[in-house]
Amino acid sequence: MKYTVVLTAAFPKVARELLAGEFDVIEHPTEHGRSEEDMITILAEADAAITLLQDPVTRRVLESNPNLRIVSNFAVGYNNIDVDAARELGIAVANTPGVLTEATADLTMALLLAVTRRVVEGDAETRTLQRCDWEPLKLLGASLQDKRLGIIGMGRIGSAVATRARAFGMEVVSVRRGDAASAGKHAGAISMDDLLATSDILSIHAPLTRETHHLIDAAAFAKMKRGAYLINTSRGALVDENALCNALDSGQLRGAALDVYEHEPQINPRLLAMKNVVIVPHIGSATEEARNAMARIAATNVLLVLRGQEPLYKVI
Ligand code: GLV
Repeated sequence: MKYTVVLTAAFPKVARELLAGEFDVIEHPTEHGRSEEDMITILAEADAAITLLQDPVTRRVLESNPNLRIVSNFAVGYNNIDVDAARELGIAVANTPGVLTEATADLTMALLLAVTRRVVEGDAETRTLQRCDWEPLKLLGASLQDKRLGIIGMGRIGSAVATRARAFGMEVVSVRRGDAASAGKHAGAISMDDLLATSDILSIHAPLTRETHHLIDAAAFAKMKRGAYLINTSRGALVDENALCNALDSGQLRGAALDVYEHEPQINPRLLAMKNVVIVPHIGSATEEARNAMARIAATNVLLVLRGQEPLYKVI
């Protein structure tokens, strides 16, 4: 009897190609977010699943199907999965690290440049006016040369952003997440308070955990340098979105550029109305190269576990 692999989306075709010879593959594409009930329904027949970062893989979902052997998340982040429950139930959890590092770092730089140089505002204005007038005081932004970039989460993606930012003449400082003791081991690592108080631009690259939820809240915004920028390409809930809106309204922040939101797929309407906020729809890893590589890894993780081996990238 063949194992059944459920794909909760239409992933790049390499995923299906790798699995179809050996297993029954069922695709459940959706245009909208799924509830716990939806997950229970579509995983009912699954021995393995490749899931989206927004699929709620809760304890109830994991307990609902005793045949489930692996949840292979099509993402590096896995905050959508109850890994404690998976561990207790003996279900493997795997992810796709490494292959989306450069793509996400590129998008971070795109956002950083877009917000500091007002690219989106300029595009919108030019289309509206249907002309281009050079004016001495038009759409003035901020230079990157000699500015300080504060990176929260100096892992793979944070480090790739640091390399790019240094090439733009920026000074890079970082804080080790939740680990003040190890901060001194990393060049440019300083305390969180110093990082907040001295960075011209703050960029977040830490995973979402219980400890990092609302890491940047009203108190953190109050500690930031007035007129700083915030870039977030990690997970929305690291930032208290209401506090972010207040900081932007008061001028404490000069701008923000966001790929992720606290309550995806919803975006705070206050953010949508602000010209000094650049908004993109969670596309950090959205290059053909990265997504194909993620699909290959996610499928290989499944393949290996169903063959009784270890996945390539095991979370637990
Ligand atoms: C994207 O957000 C990922 O975690 O891969």
